[in-house]
Amino acid sequence: MRSFWARIPLASRLVLDFGMLVAMILLIDPRASGIALHEWVGIVIAPVLIFHLTLNWPWIVQVMRKLVRRLPLETRINSVLNSLLFVVMVIAIVSGVLISQEALPWMGFNVTGSSTWRGIHEVSSNFVLIIIGAHLAMQWQWIVRTVRRVAGMPAQRRNVRVEEVSQ
Ligand code: HEM
Repeated sequence: MRSFWARIPLASRLVLDFGMLVAMILLIDPRASGIALHEWVGIVIAPVLIFHLTLNWPWIVQVMRKLVRRLPLETRINSVLNSLLFVVMVIAIVSGVLISQEALPWMGFNVTGSSTWRGIHEVSSNFVLIIIGAHLAMQWQWIVRTVRRVAGMPAQRRNVRVEEVSQ
């Protein structure tokens, strides 16, 4: 029997991924979006990130199991990038919360907002944005394939060996 996560329609997964992309674009420039919007988007993205990881868990487990064996270079790079993205995103969210100027004080929490955490947030968030660009580039085939499938367009020819493990 297919797992609960596997039965979530592709269209919903695509909408979720697209939502994350829009959120990332909103996060790029807090001065343009306003600091309050920036902070709330940054906070909301944490559970969405966990959901995104849960949806892609079968891929993560499959790659981790095969990592000791030979895998296509593309898949190896992909999994290293994904792990790195997860780590820097957690650092960006935690440091962001620790320098919060609007959301946390509004909830009644006083945060230090030290210059060290500010620096950590600046560096980690810039890394997040760079790695997201690479992540999108690596997943581009999956995105195009899924958009075509959801839109009811005929599938393109594909390289089965690489794509089976590097979706
Ligand atoms: C993955 C999530 C996040 C990303 C990608 C991100 C990205 C950024 C970027 C690019 C900047 C500008 C840094 C600079 O001045 O060069 C920034 C600043 C800032 N972020 Fe975030 N952020 C995230 C999460 C959060 C969260 C969750 C909060 C608070 C709840 C937050 C609060 C702030 C604050 C207060 C600033 C302004 C710092 C200053 O004025 O020096 N961020 N963020």
